[in-house]
Formats: sequence, structure tokens, C-alpha cells
Amino acid sequence: MEPINQRKLDHIQIVSGDSAVDRKRFYFDRIHLTHRALPELNLADVDPSVEFLGKKLSFPLLISSMTGGADKELIRINRNLAIAAEAEGVALAVGSQRVFLSDEAARASFELRDRAPNTVLLGNLGAVQLNYELGFADCEAAVAVLDADGLYLHLNPLQEAVQPEGDTDFSGLKSKIAEVAGKLRKPVIIKEVGAGISAEDVEHLLSAGIKHIDVAGSGGTSWSMVESRRSGEPELGELFKDWGIPTPLALKKMKPYAHEVELIASGGIRNGIDMVKSMVLGASLCGIARPFLTPAMESAEAVQAVIRRFKREFITAMFLLGAGSADKIKGREELILDEHWN
Ligand SMILES: Cc1cc2nc3c(=O)[nH]c(=O)nc-3n(C[C@H](O)[C@H](O)[C@H](O)COP(=O)(O)O)c2cc1C
Repeated sequence: MEPINQRKLDHIQIVSGDSAVDRKRFYFDRIHLTHRALPELNLADVDPSVEFLGKKLSFPLLISSMTGGADKELIRINRNLAIAAEAEGVALAVGSQRVFLSDEAARASFELRDRAPNTVLLGNLGAVQLNYELGFADCEAAVAVLDADGLYLHLNPLQEAVQPEGDTDFSGLKSKIAEVAGKLRKPVIIKEVGAGISAEDVEHLLSAGIKHIDVAGSGGTSWSMVESRRSGEPELGELFKDWGIPTPLALKKMKPYAHEVELIASGGIRNGIDMVKSMVLGASLCGIARPFLTPAMESAEAVQAVIRRFKREFITAMFLLGAGSADKIKGREELILDEHWN
């Protein structure tokens, strides 16, 4: 088996089997929203639907990037996620597609459009690979195999730095990202993988022509911890397990750019209340990864049950804020009653 396929299987095994890699920092619990005892709404009339990249979603949920590869378990996971995303009308991002660029057998794990003909599908590649083996043609191939609506380029300097085999040359990446964003026929979305994107990063990304950013902040899956589990020297990864910008703080720092970028929140979102708080802080879409992994190893129905739980929680929170539609919560910081950050 190609080493990259083995690494994907290691990640699935560590994330699903070791709960310590989910930091559960509950950063969202520090934010209190204003409960409305008199919501002046019928719960049945609450409409949580949104639009993203020109497509309608039943509510603002994205199943965040996780996997793909030649192994039949990885193919099954992605197919279950795609079937469930289509059935429930939510968006799906696949894991890094670098694997199929070196191993044709991994292609099947990304050929998901027949299982998800209508919903938003997003491709994924590591931006740092533009400094190594990948170029613009690979970005086009990643979009084509998935018939994707957009391409995530992930930035993961912490993960690469604590990996024994990490690719750590992040120099000069901005101009390469700008070249891809300028030429690709679909939008490029920049994300982190759990350490967050800062306002300083946004300045650079805006000048590179990026219009969609997923903050992917800290609080949930810790890639530093995941890599420490694979490393012969776990100390470095453990030390940095909580490094990064907590997701709600990363969103707050994005406020000055709210009119220039479409924001996605992810990293430690674990229920529909966290989703509503993310929207209040300006997000258009909320990404969740780890809670979908174990259900995806089981069946599409198991994934659908988790999506429905998040949706019910999301609608309940909207109702209790007196918000009948998503535009009544998005960017509405006046709904915040109180915050505790120290
Ligand atoms: C098993 C697993 C594999 C992942 N693989 C990728 C990946 O290939 N590319 C990527 O951009 N993010 C990847 N991520 C990161 C997630 O998309 C997300 O940014 C991060 O896990 C935070 O979300 P969470 O706290 O809800 O898990 C992966 C996450 C998990 C749990």
C-alpha cells in the first residue's frame, strides 16, 4: 500500500479510537446568547435554510474534510457521507485529494457526484504541496474528479511541523495560492485544520484574491495530538495540542473583513447551539468533522441521524432567539448577552 494511503488509515483509526485528540475545549460555551421568552414565532415556521455558492442548503452545515484513498474502508466512508449529505441537503468537503494524484486506485473515493448530484461538494488539497509536487493542473484535476463546486486549499503548518515526515517549506506560498485562485474556474476556499486563521493572514489572502475563508480554529480535533500519536517522539505534538486561535475568537477577529470574505466556521463545533453562535459571529456555513467519522464508518443512515440531530438543535436555538430565518442571526452580534474569555 502507498504510504499516503496508510497515513489516511492511521488518521481514521486514531481520530475514531482516541477521544483525547478531540480537545473538547468548549470555547463556544463562553458566549451567552439572549434568550427570548416571547419569541413571537411559531416553531414550525422557523426556516433554517441558506444559500452557499449559489446552491440551497437545508441548514448551514458542512461535513468538513476528512478522508479519501484507495482502501475500501475509505471509499465507503466517503460514499456514506455523500449519500447522507445529498439526502439531508447539506454540503460535503472531501479530505485531501493528493492521494489520487499519485495512486489512481484512490480515484473512486472522490467520484461522488453520482451519489450527491445536487448538493455542494468541495475538493481539498494541501496548499503547501504547491511548494513541492503539485501545480495548477493538479488543482484542476481535484475539482474535475469530484465535479466540485469549489476547492479547499488547507494551510497546516502546525500539523506539518510536528509530523516526522512533514512538508514544512511554507515560504512564498501566497503568490502560488494567488495563481491558483486567479486561474481556477471554481472558487478557492482557504482553511486551517484546527489552529485558526488570523486577521493578519486574511490581509494576505485578500490580496491573493481569496473570497472564502474557513477559520478552522482550535477547540476540536487537534492535529498536533493526532500526529503525536503517530510519532516516535510524541512530546512536541502534545505540547502544541492547544496551540491556535479558538474558533469563536477567530471569527470575532474577522469582523472588519465581513464584507470582503464569506466566512466558514469550523473547529470544535459540536452541536446546533455552537452553529448558531458561529452564525451570530458572522459565519455563512458551519463545518463539523470528527462527530461524523464513526457514523460514516457505519452507514449513510447513521450519518443522516447525526445531521438531523444538529438540525433540530439549530432550529430550536433559532426559535429561542426569536429568529425565523438565517438572515436574522447571521452577523447579529447584538444577540450576544455576555462573554467570558478570562
Ligand atoms: C479524520 C479526519 C481527517 C481529516 N483530514 C483532513 C484533510 O485531509 N484535509 C483538511 O483540510 N482537513 C482535514 N481534517 C480537518 C477537518 O476538516 C477540520 O478542519 C478539523 O478536524 C476541525 O473540525 P472538528 O473539530 O469538527 O473535527 C480532518 C479531520 C478529521 C477528523
